[in-house]
Amino acid sequence: MSNSNPIGFFDSGVGGTSIWKEVIQLLPNENSIYLSDSINAPYGEKPIEEIIALSKKNTEKLISMGSKIIVVACNTATTNAIQILRDTYPLPIIGIEPAIKPAALGSQTKSIGILATKGTLSSKLFSKTSELYSKNITIIEVVGNGLVSLIEQGKQDSEEIKGLLSNLLKPMLAAKIDYLVLGCSHYPYLVPVLKELLPNDVTIIDSGEAVARQTKKLLLENNLMNNINISPKHLLFTNAKPEILANLVHAKKNNLDVSYLNF
Ligand code: SIN
Repeated sequence: MSNSNPIGFFDSGVGGTSIWKEVIQLLPNENSIYLSDSINAPYGEKPIEEIIALSKKNTEKLISMGSKIIVVACNTATTNAIQILRDTYPLPIIGIEPAIKPAALGSQTKSIGILATKGTLSSKLFSKTSELYSKNITIIEVVGNGLVSLIEQGKQDSEEIKGLLSNLLKPMLAAKIDYLVLGCSHYPYLVPVLKELLPNDVTIIDSGEAVARQTKKLLLENNLMNNINISPKHLLFTNAKPEILANLVHAKKNNLDVSYLNF
């Protein structure tokens, strides 16, 4: 059996395309729809009730567009709303959590850094995961205030973001971290700047590959794979400025369809 319906992705904005890229790379036959809720970004500074309401709105839109499975490509939405989404909608829903485990297991200095939004770091789901590892290692949590808004403006390579990041990284460097966990799907777009600011022996990790593997596993388990060899269709929508999203995914070069949608 083969199912050609799209995999649906949503994020508070453009950043979740870092996850989307990993998934479509691992699953080259799959069609996809991506919703960038940029008009409501950032989610990380919103009350939990609002994060849940926005996550439901996006999920319902993706279902109405024929999605067979949903990837919540946003850490803040995952840590605050995933259980409610799974309890409410009848299709498989995958979330994204900060990759604390591989960092904690790999750390030699026994000190790791986590950069995430306030909404993620203050969530119950994050505290539960972090408590599992904090007995043996020091976890330096830093709220990436201001980063998502700059990435939403297409300023991921700017001097402004470099200055902001160099301040945010100070407590981590003082604590001699050897792993930096990116706990927000926007942050992989900061890796080039982070590499300039961090010593070479700090490993940067994100959750993209793990989410892609989990998506494949759930498609297989639920008989939802598209087994027909096609040229997949990827439709990316934003409710703000399409050019920011188009630039980030190199839409022209990659022949991707990016457009405005009121959702
Ligand atoms: C945000 O909207 O504040 C960031 C999204 C994320 O947590 O991945």
